[in-house]
Amino acid sequence: MTHLIRRAHPEDVETVVRWRAESAAWIERRYGSDQWQRPFPADQLMKSVVAGELWIVHADTLTSSPVATITVDQDADPALWLPEERDEPARYVHKLTVAPGKAPGLGAALLDWAGRAAASEGALWLRLDAWTSNQRLRQYYADQGFAFVRENPERVSGAAFQRRASFQMGSLYEVVEV
Ligand SMILES: CC(C)(COP(=O)(O)OP(=O)(O)OC[C@H]1O[C@@H](n2cnc3c(N)ncnc32)[C@H](O)[C@@H]1OP(=O)(O)O)[C@@H](O)C(=O)NCCC(=O)NCCS
Repeated sequence: MTHLIRRAHPEDVETVVRWRAESAAWIERRYGSDQWQRPFPADQLMKSVVAGELWIVHADTLTSSPVATITVDQDADPALWLPEERDEPARYVHKLTVAPGKAPGLGAALLDWAGRAAASEGALWLRLDAWTSNQRLRQYYADQGFAFVRENPERVSGAAFQRRASFQMGSLYEVVEV
């Protein structure tokens, strides 16, 4: 099934804030985790929009309601990545969210899309940080082919993972950039 991915507009920030709150409630209910209980600052999301780093996904057509978001940037967190790792060409995934109840499996397709885009720009690695105390989420990334690199227990989102940018998990979904 084909999904379309586009750069976010300022009007999308409200949707991303809402998804985060809905996801946090779902995560708390299902897994008892405190992940994302604090709302994400809208001004930081807006910065990602302005930088062209926040993406929005639609099923079928751009006029349909959006179903997912991903942010991809080059901001290596020095609390998680060593200087020699930060020197390597890499892209960093943040705020990956599939709207609760929509399109299970789409997240994996977005990770593949991000990896392809990163590799096409010469990056070697696709990296991310997962909620430190959320073992199920950490397992999810391991299942997606990511290797655990290290944990910073001082950080709520402090479990660092990476996989080769060229790695493709494969998915039912095709993600096309528009
Ligand atoms: C993580 C996410 C993008 C993965 O999307 P996906 O590839 O389409 O995969 P699914 O949504 O089908 O989830 C796969 C499994 O991971 C679990 N999972 C997903 N997010 C989880 C989370 N935050 N905590 C614990 N488990 C989680 C799901 O319950 C599911 O488990 P199941 O197969 O036993 O039912 C999506 O589940 C999501 O938006 N989760 C909430 C927000 C989030 O945690 N984002 C990651 C930030 S680092």
